[in-house]
Amino acid sequence: MRKNDILVIISSPRKNSNSTFAALRLAKNINKEYNVIDMNKIFLKPCTGCFKCAMKLKCNIRDDFNKILIHIKNAKVIIVASPIYFTGVPGQLKIFIDRNQQQWEKYKRGYYKKSKKVGYIILTSGSNNKKYFKPAESEIKSFFVVNGIKCKKIFRFENMDMPGKIKEKKYIEKLKIL
Ligand SMILES: Cc1cc2nc3c(=O)[nH]c(=O)nc-3n(C[C@H](O)[C@H](O)[C@H](O)COP(=O)(O)O)c2cc1C
Repeated sequence: MRKNDILVIISSPRKNSNSTFAALRLAKNINKEYNVIDMNKIFLKPCTGCFKCAMKLKCNIRDDFNKILIHIKNAKVIIVASPIYFTGVPGQLKIFIDRNQQQWEKYKRGYYKKSKKVGYIILTSGSNNKKYFKPAESEIKSFFVVNGIKCKKIFRFENMDMPGKIKEKKYIEKLKIL
């Protein structure tokens, strides 16, 4: 595969992030080269709920959202990595997901029916209670659906408060999918 075929979307704001490490490792296991978009370095404004996208099928807000969309359009595999923040995704990622309302408008009109894109979700939590993953899973899956991305696998890593903990062999082994 080519570099543009694999897109990794990361969202943890911290150094030595577990979710970021896992996402990059998974991408490397799929292909030698890949693109990365860090939600903490992207200029994105929140959705204003104006619903202009319902008519125009595109968003009125001017920022970097369309640049990300082009990457999604070009990719065959999309990996989204997120730490669990208050059971959901961090604000940086949520702003991006909400901006996909224009994609929802296209999706419900039948766009992306023939899409063959696949997606992987990587989630890390501080606790060891699986219930905390659910809202974040649902948010990211919704983003996948409206972009025609079929969710292939969700990786859930618990007890990940310590930065870099995921580098332990037992976790890295789980990311070998091929
Ligand atoms: C603002 C904030 C909210 C958090 N909320 C939760 C939570 O609801 N449930 C949970 O299990 N862990 C929670 N955590 C812990 C993180 O999910 C955990 O540290 C995560 O593994 C960090 O991933 P990272 O290394 O990729 O940044 C929270 C951490 C922060 C900073």
